[in-house]
Amino acid sequence: MTQYMTMTADAPVSRSTAIKLYDEAGFAGMRKAGRLAAEILDALAPHVVPGVTTGELDDIVRRMTLEGGGVPATLGYRGFTHSCCTSINNVICHGIPGGRELREGDIVNIDVTPIVDGWHGDTSRMYIAGDAPVKARRLVEITYECLMLGIEQAKPGNTLGDIGHAIQRYAERHRYGVVRDFCGHGLGRVFHDSPEVVHIGRPGTGPELRPGMFFTIEPMINTGKPGVKMMEDGWTAVTRDRSLSAQFEHSIGITETGCEIFTKSPTGRDCPPYK
Ligand code: MF3
Ligand code: CO
Ligand code: CO
Repeated sequence: MTQYMTMTADAPVSRSTAIKLYDEAGFAGMRKAGRLAAEILDALAPHVVPGVTTGELDDIVRRMTLEGGGVPATLGYRGFTHSCCTSINNVICHGIPGGRELREGDIVNIDVTPIVDGWHGDTSRMYIAGDAPVKARRLVEITYECLMLGIEQAKPGNTLGDIGHAIQRYAERHRYGVVRDFCGHGLGRVFHDSPEVVHIGRPGTGPELRPGMFFTIEPMINTGKPGVKMMEDGWTAVTRDRSLSAQFEHSIGITETGCEIFTKSPTGRDCPPYK
């Protein structure tokens, strides 16, 4: 049975197996953190061009996070020493920023998580360096649609299975593979909390969605099979069959009537092309 726990403003910060239900103060906190996260991704758009290194993009993320009154959650997280993840082409997630220069036609996911006043705003988008082949652009577009179809299912009375099903159905209709090895997660004053939000599923199964639940939806979609291979660095996850992979992520909160997207772009730059 799924357990739920009501969170008050003075509740201690701790991971739990029970799903936390937050109050209005929680929504206010997540709104602020989510807003900064979205502004950082907005500001990156003109910088993601051929020739830039992922390390330079990471520098921008760190500077903007600190200037915005936040701290990057990934900095020092389980030994990760950067302010964002940069995942290029066949990298599924958790790519480490460094000296790699973007080339014309690369697709790259940038994933940021500023902590503001203790609240985590976790979001990622795809960027395209210059012009990419239609195959890559199509993957990016369908992956964004997968995220939004999942979010459409995020309302009281529905279940996590409804979200996973909507994503899986749409991705597989396009003969894409949905990654199983990584999932979305509850968050709030904890970075990775219950529940696990898997991006496949059957309607009506899994935990029921209730007002006050905060979690991410972050589907990783491959042009090939879902299989994952880990690189030697212990972080970088790539597609086993070397196919292209894309991902978008939003942090949301369940309301009485649906959900609030905490990390929506204030300038409409939620998916490429970014004008
Ligand atoms: N932001 C990622 C997520 O969506 C987590 C990155 S953890 C890191 O959950 F250590 F790889 F940065
Ligand atoms: Co996340
Ligand atoms: Co993230």
